[in-house]
Order: sequence, then C-alpha cells, then structure tokens
Amino acid sequence: MFGKAKQNQRDLFESERSFRLLVEGVADYALYMLDPNGIVTSWNIGGERIKGYTPSEILGRHFSAFYTETDRANGKPQRALKIAEEQGRYEEEGWRVRKDGTFFWASVMIDPIREDGRLVGFAKITRDITERREAQLKVEQMQAKLAESQKLDALGQLTGGVAHDFNNLLMIISGSLHTLRKGVPDEPRLQRALSAIEAASRRGAALTGQLLTFARRQSVNPQAVNVVERIDAIRDVLRTGVGSTVALQFDVGRSVWPVMVDVTELETALVNLVINARDAMPDGGNIRIAANNTTLREEAHSGDYVAISVEDSGTGIAPDVLSKIFDPFFTTKPVGKGTGLGLSQVHGFAHQAGGTVKVTSELGKGTKIAILLPRKDIDVPVDEISATASGGSGTVLLVDDNPEVAAVSSSLLEQLGYTVRRVDNAEAALREVERDGIDFVFSDIVMPGKMDGLALARHLKAIRPRLPILLATGYSDAAVNVRDDFPILRKPYEIHQLSQAIAKLPR
Ligand SMILES: Nc1ncnc2c1ncn2[C@@H]1O[C@H](COP(=O)(O)OP(=O)(O)OP(=O)(O)O)[C@@H](O)[C@H]1O
Ligand SMILES: [Mg+2]
Repeated sequence: MFGKAKQNQRDLFESERSFRLLVEGVADYALYMLDPNGIVTSWNIGGERIKGYTPSEILGRHFSAFYTETDRANGKPQRALKIAEEQGRYEEEGWRVRKDGTFFWASVMIDPIREDGRLVGFAKITRDITERREAQLKVEQMQAKLAESQKLDALGQLTGGVAHDFNNLLMIISGSLHTLRKGVPDEPRLQRALSAIEAASRRGAALTGQLLTFARRQSVNPQAVNVVERIDAIRDVLRTGVGSTVALQFDVGRSVWPVMVDVTELETALVNLVINARDAMPDGGNIRIAANNTTLREEAHSGDYVAISVEDSGTGIAPDVLSKIFDPFFTTKPVGKGTGLGLSQVHGFAHQAGGTVKVTSELGKGTKIAILLPRKDIDVPVDEISATASGGSGTVLLVDDNPEVAAVSSSLLEQLGYTVRRVDNAEAALREVERDGIDFVFSDIVMPGKMDGLALARHLKAIRPRLPILLATGYSDAAVNVRDDFPILRKPYEIHQLSQAIAKLPR
C-alpha cells in the first residue's frame, strides 16, 4: 500500500511537472497567472517572447504594464478583471505594449480561477496576432481597391456620355472652320483667329479622346500607319508645345516598319509623352524623339515591333512614383496643371494596339518612355493621308438627329462634291431609301428613337445589300461590336478623313 501511495504521489508530481513544462514551453502564447489583484504570479516562454520580459522582470508586477498608457488611464485593466470575475470570461482584441515600448495587436483571454468558490486569481492567455491583423487589413485594402475600380468604371460611363456630346460640339466647330477658311479673306488677323479656334478644337478633341481611352470607350479606327510620316506631320505641333527653352531632336529612321494603330491616338500619345518630358525640365533641356525597328523576345511580347520613344534630360521619376504613373488621375503636378490622364492614355493606346510601354528613368538624369507597337504586315496598303480632299460625286443620304452636326456634315459632303439628302431619324431614312437615287448612306450611330444608326445599317444591309453604308460616332460603346460589319468614322472628323472613308466604301 505504502508503495502504491508513493507511486501515486510520484505520478502526480510527474504530471504536474510535465504540465508546467508544457505551459512554460508554449512559445506562441503568453500563458500566465495573476493574483486576484492583477499581480503577475507566473510566466512562460511565450510571454517572454511576445512581451519581452524575463520572469524576474515581470513576476510581482501589475499586469497593467502590458496596456497602453491611455488604456491604463481609462482603467481598462481593472475593468477587464472585473468583467472576467463577474461574467466568467473576458475576451478582447486590442493594442498591447511590449517591454521595449513597441505595440502589438493582441488577442486576449482572461479566466477567473476559483477554489471552493473563492476567487484565487486569473489565468491569462495572450496571443500576438499583429500579422493576422495585417493580412486582414490587406484584404480590406484590396476590397477598397476593388471599390475604387468600380468607381472608376462608373466614372468611365459618365465620361463616355459627356464625351459623346462634347464630340458633337467639336464636330460643329471644326467642320464649320473648314467652311470658314474658304470664305474668310486672306487677312493675317482673321487667319490667326481661325488658327486659334482650330488649335483649341484640336485640344478639345484630344481631351475627349483621353477621357475615352481612360474609359476604354475609344472607338479605335486602326489602320496601317507610316510612323515616319505621322511623326513628321506633328513636328510643328510638338515644337510649339515644348516652348523655346527645350531642344527637340528627331531621330526617326526612314525604314521604320508600318504599324496598325489609330492615327489620332498615336498622335495624342506622342503629345502626352512630349508634354510630360517638357514638364520634367522646368529649366529647359533636351528631348529626343526616336523611332526604330526592334525585335522583342519576351513572354508577352515577342516578334517585330516598332519602338517610338521620347527621352528627356529632366528630373527623372522616383522609384515609389514609378509604379503609379500609368494610374488614371495619378499626378504629381499641382492642381490645374495635370489631370493624370496622359500616361493612362499612352498605356491604353499601346495595349489596345497589341503593344506595350517601357519606362527607364534615373533621378536627376532623365526619363525615357518607349511605346512598342507590333509591326504591321506589308500587304495592307499604308494609308496616304492627304490633307487635300479628293472630290466625289453622287447622292448621299445623311442621317443625323442633331441639326447643327447635320449642317456641318452636309456642308463637308457638298464640298466634296456630293449631293446631300438629309433626314433626322432612321424611319425617315428608310422612306428616303425607298424613293431611290441614293448612292450611299452616311448615318450617326447614336440616335434617339426605336432604331439607332446601327440598327438602321443592319436593316438596310438586309433589304439593300449593295447600298454602301458609312457610320459616324463620337461615342464608341456602340462602335465596338460594329467594327467588322460597317466602316465607322469617328467624330470629330476632318474633311480629308471623311473623303477617305467614303472612298473606301465597297461599291
Ligand atoms: N518624363 C517624365 N519625367 C518625370 N516624371 C514624369 C514624366 N512623365 C510622367 N511623369 C510623372 O508621372 C505622372 C503622371 O503623368 P501623366 O502624364 O499621366 O499625368 P500628368 O502629366 O500629371 O497630367 P496630364 O498628362 O493629364 O496633364 C506625372 O505627374 C509625373 O509625376
Ligand atoms: Mg502628362
């Protein structure tokens, strides 16, 4: 018997010892005891690891040492013990303080310990869940980003709508200009005024374009483009844009391959890059515009590309800014100076054309931004964009609900030599087609009423398969699904673009 009792005692001792070892050895949790007043009476390795105190430093001290000063001042530690005693448990997540004064996000549990109904102390478990909390915050940030992108989508829809109306206005301005130029006497003052209006309407068109690219609503009109010619064509615009303190250097190889892009978009992208380069050189400097052939061997982009680059000797871009420069509305420029859409347009343009954008920048030295566009196979004829409009003949049925736009369009058509019949809706257009004598139809896409321009075009294609149809739009949601069926002219268009589009109609 005696032996058995001793054995029991030894077992008890062993199990207590192993339990103590277990508690002391748990490194991921601070497991310790408090006396009824909150004085620390035991300590484990987890406590030391998480809070930084050795047993000798903390045993005998009040546990409020782990709380922030504000929490202490508010009596939070005492309240926690009281709640634990009254409700049988206290649980919380909150900031706690380590010995070295740093904070960690803690998950805390306090359990009262009773012996024969009498409170003898508290068991306390604390976990450091700073990392978990950070992961959670990251998730929340991602959700915020998603919300942000949904907001941008909504904003895109709004800008798309505004841009449509705006393009109609621009169409009236730029179209009327062409007519005015013919009638206005060759007086420098008047010609200058006309040029100013022209420049302003171009700028307006550029801005709407930027908004549309951002909204990914740009109706792209890709065509085979001779890069050398296009850069030549906007040389003067660029020179005027950069001002006199900046030297503009062109380095464009004559044998640069053609690319398949939207001409207006390409020009806008170049202007955006050059203006950025100028802004990065407040005290002047050099800008080099280059175009050359290159072959890429990358996963996403491989094959023949044309690199069009703009290089400046300006401020350069700081590494933390670099990752954001393509974000819509990201700008480091003062309010009113930059909208932060320039590089968004460049990015949207390059990617829509199947290419990409590369940036190299060194603080204090300068920046080089290159647009890489896939080479266009030669078999497609490169567009000769002639500024002079070639004449035509025949009768066109013009369908447009906006009287001012219609007036301008018919004036342009007449200048090109066509006879114009005008209607303001699709139903009237169908009646007019019945009357015969129409050589082709030129219709706006977005129109009120049962049938928009696209529906009209499809209907006409069914009943009059040989009647050529040209569509126009300042808005491109509709344009996206039409592209293959019918040629589309983007508003605002100039007379040579109109004449070209008509010339290309199948007859
Ligand atoms: N060549 C450059 N050198 C230094 N920083 C540049 C350069 N190009 C762009 N950046 C930085 O990238 C930011 C975004 O450029 P982005 O063209 O998108 O907008 P923005 O020029 O600020 O405004 P916006 O072009 O709409 O008028 C700029 O504000 C600038 O901080
Ligand atoms: Mg810019």
